[in-house]
Amino acid sequence: MRSSVSEASVRTPQHVAIIMDGNGRWAKQQGKVRMEGHRQGSSRVRDVVEWALDAGVKQVSLYAFSTENWKRPKLEVTALMTLLATLLPLEISRMNEKGARLLTLGDLSKLPWLARKAIQKTKHGTAQNKKIDLILCLNYGGQQEIVDGVQDFCRAWHAQGCSEDQLNMLSVDQFASYLPRKDVLPVDLLIRTGGERRISNFHLWDAAYAELYFTDCLWPDFSREDLQLALDDFAGRERRFGQTSEQVQGMESE
Ligand code: IPE
Ligand code: IPE
Ligand code: MG
Repeated sequence: MRSSVSEASVRTPQHVAIIMDGNGRWAKQQGKVRMEGHRQGSSRVRDVVEWALDAGVKQVSLYAFSTENWKRPKLEVTALMTLLATLLPLEISRMNEKGARLLTLGDLSKLPWLARKAIQKTKHGTAQNKKIDLILCLNYGGQQEIVDGVQDFCRAWHAQGCSEDQLNMLSVDQFASYLPRKDVLPVDLLIRTGGERRISNFHLWDAAYAELYFTDCLWPDFSREDLQLALDDFAGRERRFGQTSEQVQGMESE
């Protein structure tokens, strides 16, 4: 029997990942400079964590700066880093009120010192929170993350003197333990705002079985209703993970 709509609607993704795109176009529409779009977009970060928490989501990862975004004009990169360094520590008390913990993905060592300091302070100040994780992806690239994992794995392989046979036995889960992160759940729902239908090097590993959701809404305009539309859409999807529909619905066991 197919699951009913009411059954489906209680299905909530544990990890929602968002490609926050469209800040520049939003600013252009308003006759403002691109940075104004980023500033407006940064307010949505706080909102989306609170809306996600209310909806029962456990982790929200937000693509804030990609490994490719260094190619942007120097002025925009500097302004983005300054925005991060200025706004993040201001969020600590509110994050503590809500029970939100800050985690990051991406190589922070390339970020300016002030941004790194702000991240460190916010991570430290929110480390005890358990209700929801905000995972900011900064200088993040899915390909680089996998390369980092391969490097770490090869180092361990050499150090432990593993044999060719042991190498051939390496499983997906074993390899995943070398990826440079901890506490990150598989992505259940990947949302991209701004109308593009691509993943731009985000979560190449974790989103292996994510449900994809694209919306034309520009990130600074993203509202609670827009998040709810994405969550409702997710609740209606049948996640099969390679099985048949009949197996998933319990009509066929083997
Ligand atoms: C996304 O918005 C924010 C970052 C990449 C930092 P964009 O700046 O890419 O906005 P558009 O795509 O130019 O509208
Ligand atoms: C993806 O947006 C990166 C972030 C949202 C941080 P971009 O605007 O940089 O993506 P492309 O270049 O259009 O694919
Ligand atoms: Mg863009």
